[in-house]
Amino acid sequence: MCGIVGYIGEENIKEVLVDGLRELEYRGYDSAGIAVLQENDIQSFKAVGKLKNLEEKTKGFNPHAFGMGIGHTRWATHGKPTEINAHPHLGEFSYVVHNGIIENYQELKKELQAEGVHFLSQTDTEVIVHLFEKNYKAIGDPFKAFEATLERLEGAFAVLLMTKVDPDRIYFAKHGSPMIVGNNAKGEIFFGSSDAALIGKATEVIYLDDGDYGYTSVEEGIKLFHEGTPKALNKKPLIGDKISAQKGGFRFFMEKEIYEQSDVIVDTIMGRALDNEIQFEELDAHFFDGIDLIQICACGTSYNSGLACSYLFERQAKIRTQVEIASEFRYKEPLLDPKTLFVVISQSGETADTLEALKMAKSAGLKTLAICNVDNSSIVREADYTLLTRAGIEKGVASTKAFATQVMVMWMLSLYIAQHKKTMTPEEIATEIKAIRRIPAAVKVNTRLHEKMKRLSKRYLHGHGFFFIGRDLFYPLALEGALKLKEISYLHAEGYPAGEMKHGPIALADAELFTVALMPRTVHYDKVKSNVEELSARDATILAISPERFELCDDYVHTYHSDHPMSEFFEMMVITQLLALEVSVRLGNDVDMPRNLAKSVTVE
Ligand code: M6R
Repeated sequence: MCGIVGYIGEENIKEVLVDGLRELEYRGYDSAGIAVLQENDIQSFKAVGKLKNLEEKTKGFNPHAFGMGIGHTRWATHGKPTEINAHPHLGEFSYVVHNGIIENYQELKKELQAEGVHFLSQTDTEVIVHLFEKNYKAIGDPFKAFEATLERLEGAFAVLLMTKVDPDRIYFAKHGSPMIVGNNAKGEIFFGSSDAALIGKATEVIYLDDGDYGYTSVEEGIKLFHEGTPKALNKKPLIGDKISAQKGGFRFFMEKEIYEQSDVIVDTIMGRALDNEIQFEELDAHFFDGIDLIQICACGTSYNSGLACSYLFERQAKIRTQVEIASEFRYKEPLLDPKTLFVVISQSGETADTLEALKMAKSAGLKTLAICNVDNSSIVREADYTLLTRAGIEKGVASTKAFATQVMVMWMLSLYIAQHKKTMTPEEIATEIKAIRRIPAAVKVNTRLHEKMKRLSKRYLHGHGFFFIGRDLFYPLALEGALKLKEISYLHAEGYPAGEMKHGPIALADAELFTVALMPRTVHYDKVKSNVEELSARDATILAISPERFELCDDYVHTYHSDHPMSEFFEMMVITQLLALEVSVRLGNDVDMPRNLAKSVTVE
């Protein structure tokens, strides 16, 4: 996701900013930019692609002597990754960088345009700088103008703003996106959206809370406010090394990404799950005209998310849905009908099999849609339409938050189609949206659960294999749980529909066969229970995951979010991820880079 840096001091401002941005590269980005204010003059540079392109552009620019600057790496959400859309965004006399999403930007943009403001970019961010300047012109006080601006913004944001009308200060605000401000004995002031950007520079930092805002200058120091009143500075010493800062204090990127799921799902649904309707500004009104079949194509985890959501497309949107592994689809000489919407799902957007399947569908004249995490990737460029999953960069080879956000996007898409086809009532849609908004809580990892999974894992390090079983959309979740475990533990694990056991697999049942049973309350509980009892009667070792206590299991993980099938789905997803993680850790494996695997599979 995007990265922010800021600096006030006497060092070469360009170098300090670019150095900081380099520390945030691990978050992923597709363009970068900086703005430097010295002697009441602002210089700004932007470049698409990697930081070296920005460095190339700023070669002749060497701002020694006192000044200040702001910098940004952008991961496109609103508008393509172009130079115009890169931050900082400028008004007449001010510059802004922003992380997050301004949910009401369209309303604000229309209002400003009606007053004659000219917008250069397609971003939501640009409204901030124009709104600030409008407020300044009306109020005449930059701080009050900044406060008035923040009052109008809805959504999530971390913002830095510099303005020629107040050339000694950087204004900052945090609401839902991270922001840290720090200083050192030399009186330098630093900003970063992660402490990785401040390590080695600032000695003390303040981790801002949601709702915090204020300004900094060398003379005044850090002035912090909350709800209109000054707030005491809670400074902490900044220690640690850069890699562990990138991991945010977690042992592995995969672990960090499991914990991040709650936040990234907020990003995924933001501006899309409105109060009573689902909105995708990426899709036009005719997107679904004439479509009578959805064909999903993907690999690995992305296939599992597609399979899970095929249940939703049929059940909610009442549209026939087929799901195929991309490497199979390519060579089966499929019969393709132009009334089919061809959906590819990919975290990386570079998976060769998925990309080739997409090209086949396109050349057969099908309408194509990519569900993808990386804008401007090959798959995004090829598809007619794209819905970005907004998971941020995923570093662990074992995919976690990408799966969660794919499922969330497709759940919203099935409701979007249901709205269009009127297969659900407005009341039913509103109920689903309420359920969507509860998912960030359902996937939040609590310490007790994680500790329990750590303890449990020691009992599951041997045996001759794992069955993950579930029914309905918990069957694809069982496939995903098994895939996660085998990828990083190297233990044999398979996912099965629970009802399929008696047709063969149950022959393997004995005490050394570990069964992870997904037993949601809201979906066929009694039927899964019977299937698990059959396994238990054959002495299989059972780990039951359920809101209902189950007498015949060996281990039990209690779930709490059982008011909707999807909240059960997401909660159980986290539990299976933690199980895989902790088994792998106990076995001493490389969790983030498991043997024989690559993050992006660009070969057949
Ligand atoms: O980038 P993609 O989503 O297209 O990748 C597809 C698979 O290679 C990927 O999901 C793989 O299965 C992961 N390692 C799963 O954790």
